Amino acid sequence: MIGVFDSGLGGLSVLAALVDALPRADFSYYADTAHVPYGNKSEELIQGRVLAIGEHLANHDCELLVVACNTATAAAVQALRAAHPGVPVVGVEPGIKPAAQETQSGRIAVLVTEATANSQRLKHLIRDHAGRVEVFVEPCPGWATHVEMLQLDDPALAADVRARIEPLLDKGVDRIVLGCTHYSFLAPLLQEVVGSSAQLVDVADAVARQTQRLAGPLAHGAGTLHLHASAYPERLHAALPRLRLGHLAARIA
Ligand code: DGL
Repeated sequence: MIGVFDSGLGGLSVLAALVDALPRADFSYYADTAHVPYGNKSEELIQGRVLAIGEHLANHDCELLVVACNTATAAAVQALRAAHPGVPVVGVEPGIKPAAQETQSGRIAVLVTEATANSQRLKHLIRDHAGRVEVFVEPCPGWATHVEMLQLDDPALAADVRARIEPLLDKGVDRIVLGCTHYSFLAPLLQEVVGSSAQLVDVADAVARQTQRLAGPLAHGAGTLHLHASAYPERLHAALPRLRLGHLAARIA
């Protein structure tokens, strides 16, 4: 079994890519909906949650873990690896490297939670992979909560998206990194504002390829999906069709 977790619904965007890459693997998805959003929480709290969820999944037959959350990866992937030395752990980090390689204008933006924006790990990622490319880090408070509430068409969200993205385009940014897995579900809204001025960069497929490399025999299971949540588990099932992931429902064991 492959364990995948996030603060809530965001990691389902990664899960969808994982299922595409590993259609016969068995997945256990855990949404920490009792503590969502992580983006406005302290590093200590996020670390505690990641270690508790990692323990839970490892005790329930998960032999590979995917931290389908940039915020949790930034705060706690090292601690999680140290706690489970025998379990491969795949983290999700903003696609600074591909964006910096592809930019024509030499200016990229990364959309993240407040916690990721303040993390040392993001600073190091930029230092190590952006080279001479200018990186604008844009925290987007509230966006993950809109996704969590399935308020994808809320006019207030659309206005905030426009208010944050337009100044970045004015600065000449031509690649916009989705540095939070919840934001994948806002891609249509973002695309409307961005038009042809910039491309959105999502790492879900790259994470799925990395997981595929580590999966070994876990790739050959029964193709099932187990959904768990620390609060309102029924909302997780109901969210699938709203997030255009209705096809995953047939796998639920
Ligand atoms: N989905 C998470 C991420 O990738 C965080 C959203 C939140 O809980 O604030 O960063």
